[in-house]
Amino acid sequence: MHTPDIQIAQLLLESGNVVAIPTETVYGLAANIYHKEAIEKIYTLKNRPRTSPLIVHVDSVARCETLVAHLPEKAKQLMDHFWPGPLTVLLPKSDQVPEWITGESNRVGIRMPQHPLTLALIKNCGFPLAAPSANPFSKISPTTAEMVRHYFEDQDVFVLDGGPSQAGLESTIVGFEDDQAIVYRLGALSLEDLEAVIGPVDYADKPNKVFFTPGRFPKHYAPNTPVLLTDTPEVTAMQWVEAHAGKAAVLSPTFTFVHERLHPIQWPENEALERVASHLYRTLFELDQQGFDCLIITPFPEEGLGKTMNDRLKRAATK
Ligand code: TXA
Ligand code: MG
Repeated sequence: MHTPDIQIAQLLLESGNVVAIPTETVYGLAANIYHKEAIEKIYTLKNRPRTSPLIVHVDSVARCETLVAHLPEKAKQLMDHFWPGPLTVLLPKSDQVPEWITGESNRVGIRMPQHPLTLALIKNCGFPLAAPSANPFSKISPTTAEMVRHYFEDQDVFVLDGGPSQAGLESTIVGFEDDQAIVYRLGALSLEDLEAVIGPVDYADKPNKVFFTPGRFPKHYAPNTPVLLTDTPEVTAMQWVEAHAGKAAVLSPTFTFVHERLHPIQWPENEALERVASHLYRTLFELDQQGFDCLIITPFPEEGLGKTMNDRLKRAATK
């Protein structure tokens, strides 16, 4: 059933087209890293600033080794442990990486995704795939083929449908300085996950030395509906009702107010964070379609994937 779709995707990629690919994190908008015009199409489709480099997707550690100038021991340990999986390593690039992938950066972000269709596709193509998340710039990353089709319905983008993304959050991006691991973007691997393998890691939650800090545009991952993030949903909801017309959805496990313009949405409290994460983007996307004038959301506990989800919610709430 899927084989012909993989073949179509391969033919399109070989002839310099962009194809949407499934991964365990989110769907990506993929092209051959060596095809300059194809890469240009990605930026145009996403309306993405050219200064923002693309993650390179490989099907093996061996391929990764050809793309980097130096592989620190801790990077190798993380790759051995988490690949294929939601880990992107940011490493000094070799001359095998064209400059149109990395912009002004002398580092390249590389990951080996964990999805059988996409791994087979990369293997069949024989070239690595550059792939940012398959959303227009600053919108919520897609975790289903339907979301990708919605975003690019007017463009002719072939979507390799691999079902809903299992993790539902982007990969965690890790760089290395003098043997110290630094997390530049929290993602589907938590700080705790990384530390269990290599010991203490730094988290660059403020923009720092790197010329560009990945995924750090303040407004990002945003639905069209305004988002208010609050620890006191009752207070925020009443203030909102007094100041605005229309209706708000309230995403909180504890909200009990009854009001005709406030719509409580079941928001998980005791569910495993992995499960919640896998549905988060799709839930926000679907709420966005439902015509609310505001989404009032309470954050998750600041631990494990809760930290990643809160990072995304904060960005979604940035005006
Ligand atoms: O889970 C993921 O990582 C998904 C799937 C499709 O693999 N991809 C993804 O790509 O989230 P994107 O482009 O949406 O986010 C990657 C972030 C961007 O902020 C980009 O600027 C940054 O990583 N980045 C990529 N390569 C970089 C480099 N060489 N130097 C600095 N930042 C880099
Ligand atoms: Mg993205």
